[in-house]
Amino acid sequence: MRHKILDLLAERPGEFISGEQISQELNLTRAAVWKQMKGLKEAGYEIEAQTKNGYRLLASPLALDSWALARELETENLGRELYFYEDISSTNEKAKELARQRAAHGAVVIARRQSAGHGRMQRLWESPAGGLWMTVVLKPNLSLAEASKLTLVTGVAVVDALRDLTGLKPGIKWPNDILFEGKKLAGILAEVVGEWTTIQTMVIGIGVNANIERKDLSPELPAASLHDLLGRKLDLNRLAASILKYLEQGLKEFEQDGFAPLRELWLERALGIGRECAIEKGGRVYRGIIRGIAPDGELLVEAEGKEHHFSAGEVRLRAVNGEYF
Ligand code: ATP
Ligand code: BTN
Repeated sequence: MRHKILDLLAERPGEFISGEQISQELNLTRAAVWKQMKGLKEAGYEIEAQTKNGYRLLASPLALDSWALARELETENLGRELYFYEDISSTNEKAKELARQRAAHGAVVIARRQSAGHGRMQRLWESPAGGLWMTVVLKPNLSLAEASKLTLVTGVAVVDALRDLTGLKPGIKWPNDILFEGKKLAGILAEVVGEWTTIQTMVIGIGVNANIERKDLSPELPAASLHDLLGRKLDLNRLAASILKYLEQGLKEFEQDGFAPLRELWLERALGIGRECAIEKGGRVYRGIIRGIAPDGELLVEAEGKEHHFSAGEVRLRAVNGEYF
């Protein structure tokens, strides 16, 4: 019912629609219409009410909202099936569960808060209310080797969406971190549903420290929040829709033309190329200079005159000299 009222209000933007018309079209009493309007206002919709003219919609909420998000979508598939939660353990876990049952390609799980959000190797991802915590189910037309590069494709999409909406120019720290001035603003976690050998479905989790204050995250994390950087709140629905738009575009390009063009885009947004780094792998630390990524998405590091390749699952990358990146 809420969506129907919003559809009516949005049909003629800026114009009033009378309470009587709403109650007739939706078969509601006037009191029920009033109650719905109250609920919408509580959810962050700005609705002007005038005794003579009725109601008009002035603004949608900045907070996540399924109707507002659906209106912002410019995609063909991504986000067209939407699972929305107030509180959830992890959107990636939910997306994997739904992918095994019924979720279609492009289904999106989104939550206001996660109680057990995680990064790689089950490391905790702090997810208080106000962030963008979402996971996309993908059934891509890609081989197993290609699908492992989706983390990189997603990184490009997140950077581009953030640039569009905020004017900030964050960069990508291989493989899955989006940083601004050395601090983590967003993270990406791609996981395979089922066996690696029979990959048909992946889930891509994206977490952005958007409308949360930096002080709502643990002080020791090298993290940043858009709220503190911009001094204002962002429209989370637009942010989600923009990421989904760029991700859908990137995925299409990847399926049609392969990874080479996306690799170029990734390198243009990458951090640390040409810089010294330390890499932890299986208890050992390698030191060298980051040279880029290989055509298969592996990190290229030059050390002791040789070129070394590292794959994302197994390593941690650090800048040297105490800098985060
Ligand atoms: P790194 O190599 O820098 O640790 P990573 O990509 O390997 O990064 P993950 O293994 O995916 O990181 O684990 C997530 C890490 O992100 C946590 O260990 C924690 O340090 C950090 N973290 C947790 N929540 C947030 C958040 N909301 N914003 C930024 N960083 C976070
Ligand atoms: C990283 O450590 O950089 C990756 C973090 C990924 C966090 C996102 S938030 C939405 C989705 N759900 C999760 O549990 N993790 C991802």
